[in-house]
Amino acid sequence: MLFTDTINMCAEVAGMLWQRGWAERNGGNLVVNITEDVDENIRRLPPLTTPTVLDTKLENISGMYFYCKGSGCRMRDLARKPMDNGCIIRIGADGSSYEIIACKPIQPTSELPSHLAIHNHLAANRPEMKASLHTHPTELVALSHVENLCNTEQMNKTLWAMIPETRLFCPKGVGFLPYAEPGSIELAAGTLKLIEQHDAVLWEKHGVIAVGSDMMDAFDTVDILNKAAQIRCAIPSVIA
Ligand code: 13P
Ligand code: ZN
Repeated sequence: MLFTDTINMCAEVAGMLWQRGWAERNGGNLVVNITEDVDENIRRLPPLTTPTVLDTKLENISGMYFYCKGSGCRMRDLARKPMDNGCIIRIGADGSSYEIIACKPIQPTSELPSHLAIHNHLAANRPEMKASLHTHPTELVALSHVENLCNTEQMNKTLWAMIPETRLFCPKGVGFLPYAEPGSIELAAGTLKLIEQHDAVLWEKHGVIAVGSDMMDAFDTVDILNKAAQIRCAIPSVIA
């Protein structure tokens, strides 16, 4: 696939997130590994910024290329103009920094620590998985306010019981991560631990992050999980 097709798919998903009501203001972000698809013209591009040092050395993705939503950018704007609301970054040769190479010096999402920690894991363990998606799906977030569901076991038991597709398409379920500050390395570290064994991670009172072979695949995982959450929320006892 051309890297431009990959970015166009991100734009399509961004529009769907906005329509679902999961992407208020600049809510949510997405990152996709485009290394295999970038052409020589992109590889030759000089950096637009000086290198930004990463908190952790990510050796498995050194020299790789990623399209990222811009920090503060809206999904509904990215849907129309992906290169005005996102950027392409290249990870440094030793995995300890990144530089923005296209098209504008737009800062990547504030959740880059979580996304890149995930991609560093995927590159070494599940290289066919290229996309990570964070969004704010209303009903999943609502369930993360219900105290007795605030653990991985109980959350999955509940979601899987709602509709058979949930277990079929999300067999590893969602990992539950207690509240951590958005954009923090604590959030990234907790997410990394859980994504190794789950299809997605639910960030308490915040949102969800999922991985996929492409952005549409990651979207489908969130969609399936939130469908189960919607059904649970429609059962009056959840509020009791
Ligand atoms: P960004 O605009 O930096 O991507 O942040 C949005 C968000 O949802 C943070 O969790
Ligand atoms: Zn968020």
